[in-house]
Parts: sequence; C-alpha cells; structure tokens
Amino acid sequence: MKTVGFIGWRGMVGSVLINRMIKKKDFDGINAIFFTTSQHGGTIPLNIKNKCRILQDAYNIEILSSLDIIITCQGSEYTNKIYFQLRKKGWNGYWIDAASNLRTLIDSVIVLDPINLNLIKKKINMGIKTFVGGNCTVSLMLMSLGGLFKYNLVDWISVSTYQAASGAGSKFMKELIIQMGYIYNHISHLINDASVSIIDIERKISTLMNNTNFPKKNFLAPLVNNLIPWIDKKINNGQTKEEWKGTFETNKILNTNTIIPIDGICVRVATLRSHSQSFTIKLKKDLSTDNITEILNSHNKWVKIIPNNYSDTINLLTPSSVSGTLSLSVGRIKKLNIDKNCFSIFAVGDQLLWGASEPLRRMLKLLI
Ligand code: HSE
Repeated sequence: MKTVGFIGWRGMVGSVLINRMIKKKDFDGINAIFFTTSQHGGTIPLNIKNKCRILQDAYNIEILSSLDIIITCQGSEYTNKIYFQLRKKGWNGYWIDAASNLRTLIDSVIVLDPINLNLIKKKINMGIKTFVGGNCTVSLMLMSLGGLFKYNLVDWISVSTYQAASGAGSKFMKELIIQMGYIYNHISHLINDASVSIIDIERKISTLMNNTNFPKKNFLAPLVNNLIPWIDKKINNGQTKEEWKGTFETNKILNTNTIIPIDGICVRVATLRSHSQSFTIKLKKDLSTDNITEILNSHNKWVKIIPNNYSDTINLLTPSSVSGTLSLSVGRIKKLNIDKNCFSIFAVGDQLLWGASEPLRRMLKLLI
C-alpha cells in the first residue's frame, strides 16, 4: 500500500479534495499521513480509518522523504520552499500539486486525465514524477469543449471568463458576502419606502461603494454590484497571467505540435463558486450545430448539453445550477453571423471540483 502525505488539506481546495476522497472511499487503498504547517503533534480531525492519526510537520524533510506520494494544496510558497529541497535530497516520489508554479517545468505534466490520459501514462513510463493540476478556466474549458480538441477541430478560441470569488480564495469569498451584507444593511429600510425611487437607492449604493469604509481589503475594489476585468499579475504583452495560461497550459495539456491560440479577457464576477466562460470558437471546418453538439456530448459523461432556449438556459446554464457537482453545463451553441466556421458556446463548471481538486484526486488514483 502506498504511503501518501497530504499537505494543505484544510484549505478550500484541500477540503473539497478530502471530502471527495472520503465519498469515493479512496482512503481505503492508501496509507494516509496528514501534515500541517502550524499544528504538528495534534490529531487529525477527520473520520478516516488510517493508521497515523498524529499531524506531522509539513517542513520535516526527513518524514516527507519517506513518502511514496505527496499531494499538496498548500500553495505556491510551500511548493517553492519544499519541492526543490526534496528533489535535491534525492527524493524520487510522486509530487501532485494544485499550485501553479511547477506547471512550467519541462519535466512536469499538467494533469486532466479525461483529456490527456495517454500523455500522463507515457510520462509515468518515462519516469516523470511531478504532476500538477491545471488552471481552473483551462481545465473547465478542456472538459467542456473536449470533443472539439479531440478531433483537432479548433483553429482558435477567443474567450471572456466570468470567474467566481472562490478562484481567488476563501477570504475573497467571505469578503464578497460581507460586501453583499454591507450594502443590504445600509439600504434595506429604503426598499419598500414608496417615497424613495430606485434611482435614489442606486445612487446611495454607488456612494457606499465609493466610500473608503467599503469592505474591500482583499479585492481592493467592490465586487458586489460590480465586476473586475483583471485576474492575476500583468505580463509584458498586456495580458494578465490568467489570460496567458489559456494558450500555454492548454497546449501543454494537449501536447500539441502546432500551438492552438486561445486568448481573451478574464473577469472576476460576484459569483461565489463556479466559473463560466463565453467562447467564440473558429473551427477548422464548417460543421452544423447538431454535429458540434454531438461531438461535445459524446466526449465525456460530465458534459451536459443545455438546449439553446430561454428556460433551460436560465435554469441550467448557471453557476448556481452546477456548484457542488461535477457537471459541465454547455449551452448557447450557435453559429455566429461572423464566419461560417465561427461558433459561440457558453460553459459553466465548478471551479473547486473539475477546476481544482478532481484532476488531482484522479491522478492519485492512477498512481495507486
Ligand atoms: N486563478 C483562478 C482564479 C483560480 O483566480 O479564478 C483557478 O486556478
């Protein structure tokens, strides 16, 4: 039985991973050891039948070196501090990581097995030991549009994202809820007051949002009643790093010979958990909407095609309808009046499941 160390399992992505693993009984097949960066010596607060109930020190290189597999959702800083030390010391175990910093290594694989299982297997056979989950919008796009990539139909993609606060982290989610409450608490007495017009209420809300007391320590701007068309650092060509990842990570996952260009604008919206993306896709050939629908639908069992009508769209093609599930809702599939090979597709998926923890869980399963 493989000994697997879990780091960062208490955070948001880590806890979603652990809950999935409990649900799928994945702990039955491993000897799990839980690590902590701050409370070693304590006992694990999880109801898992494993031998070692004592929390181990996540900075203890000796203990880490004894593991067959390390799976970390602790973040880039931890990875930078520990990964290279361990490898330098000769540790030859498997490292599975949710953080982004190892994705650019030559000898790492970005894992999304419904898309690149053959590449993952090939790399395991070649002795590669570092496997990293992809960026959430990239993984969700590939899972939603998998069929188009499988048959090499994509010429290019332009995308606008609608990314939930969860992608930024738990304190950002909390701040969004605090912002919602802040506005409501300040104006609720006016909503049913017939003498106050909606424009007066809207002006009052705008004033509140521009006030220095408005709670925005993390986002640095209001997200509620607003949006932020910027995610992550600026890079030299005017893109943000989140936008840059579209082409780099997609092509690394697909192991393409010719680069498929994917670019657009990544936008944070006032959604708590699931990410949405609006794609303009130029195909390499003229296919009918029915053809495309069939190709998308038959690629994997998680794709749920949402018929292009009002009622299904507002009920099923939304963050609130997919949050907490593995479903990838794919809809608004239509030919654009721009070019016969251009299509629009709108897709929604859970950022914490397919967008973060599920590819890691499945990679662990592959190794054990
Ligand atoms: N960078 C993403 C976001 C998180 O900010 O939404 C998923 O990788």
